Amino acid sequence: MENVSYQKTDNTALITLNKADTLNALSKSLISEINAVLDRIEADCEIYTIIITGCGKAFIAGADIDEMYGKSRAEIWDWSALGSGLNLRLEKMPRPIIAAINGYALGGGLELAMACDIRIASRNAKLGLPETGLGVICGAGGTQRLPHIVGESIAKEMIFTGKTINAEEAYRIGLVNRVASPDALLEEAFALANAVNKNGQLAVRAAKEAVGFSRNANIEDGCQFERQKFSALFETEDQKTGMGGFLRKEKNIVFQNR
Ligand code: CAA
Repeated sequence: MENVSYQKTDNTALITLNKADTLNALSKSLISEINAVLDRIEADCEIYTIIITGCGKAFIAGADIDEMYGKSRAEIWDWSALGSGLNLRLEKMPRPIIAAINGYALGGGLELAMACDIRIASRNAKLGLPETGLGVICGAGGTQRLPHIVGESIAKEMIFTGKTINAEEAYRIGLVNRVASPDALLEEAFALANAVNKNGQLAVRAAKEAVGFSRNANIEDGCQFERQKFSALFETEDQKTGMGGFLRKEKNIVFQNR
C-alpha cells in the first residue's frame, strides 16, 4: 500500500494514512487503499480492534478538493458514494474502531472520525466541517452523524459557520472521548484497544451492533433487539467462561471468542 500502512500489534490493527503532501485528503485512490486494508483486516480473525490515525500534522484534511472541483452533479453523486460507503463500512464493521486524531480532522476527515466508534484527539488537533465555506455541504454523512454525537443545535452551529474547534472544545461538546498529549496519543489509543481486547469479543461485537441499532429504533424495538443479542450470547462458550470465571472467583478470565 503506497499511502496507507497497516501494522498489527497483538490483537489491534493500526492503520496509518501517509499522504502528507495533501494532508491525507481523501481521494478516490486513498479511499480504495483504505478499503483494501480493511479487506485484509476483516479476513484476520486475530484482529479485535482497529486504530486509525494520520501522519504529520493531519488526521485527514477533508475530501480531496482538487479531485472534486471540476465534477458535474452526476459525477459527484457517484464520487461521494465512495466516502459515504467507507464511513458506513466502518460504522458497521464488527470490530470497535478508534480514531486517533493527531491533527487536522476537517470535512471528510471529521466525517470519517465520526463513523469510528471512539475518538481520541491529540491536544493540537483541529476539528470542523468547513464545507459551507466551500459552497457545499458534507457529502459523507457529516450532517447525519454530528447531531447524534453533539446534539442538533451545536451541530448546526458547527456546520453553518464551518468553524474549526480545538481538542479541548471537541471534548467539552462530546465530539471526542478524551484528549491526549501528542506524544501519548497512540499509547492512549492502544491502552483503550487493549481494555476492549481483553473482553469477550462476541459480546463486544454484539454490543456495537446493538448500540448501532439504537440510532433508528424506538425503545421497544431497540430493547427487543438487545434481548435477542443478549440471549444469543448464552449459546456461546464465552458466556460460560465469563460468568463461570466470576463465580469461581478467577482473576484473569481469558476468552476464546466462541
Ligand atoms: N484537498 C486537497 N488538497 C488539500 C486538502 C484537501 N482537502 N487539504 C490540504 N490540501 C493540500 C494543500 O492544497 C497543500 O497542497 P500544496 O502543497 O500542493 O499547495 C497541502 O495539502 C498542504 O496544505 P496547506 O499548505 O494548506 O497547509 P496549511 O497548514 O497551511 O493549512 C489546512 C492546513 C488548514 C488544513 C488547509 O490545508 C485547509 O484548509 N485544507 C482544506 C480543509 C477543507 O476545507 N476540508 C474540507 C474539504 S470538503 C469535504 O471534505 C467534502 C465532503 O464532506 C466529502
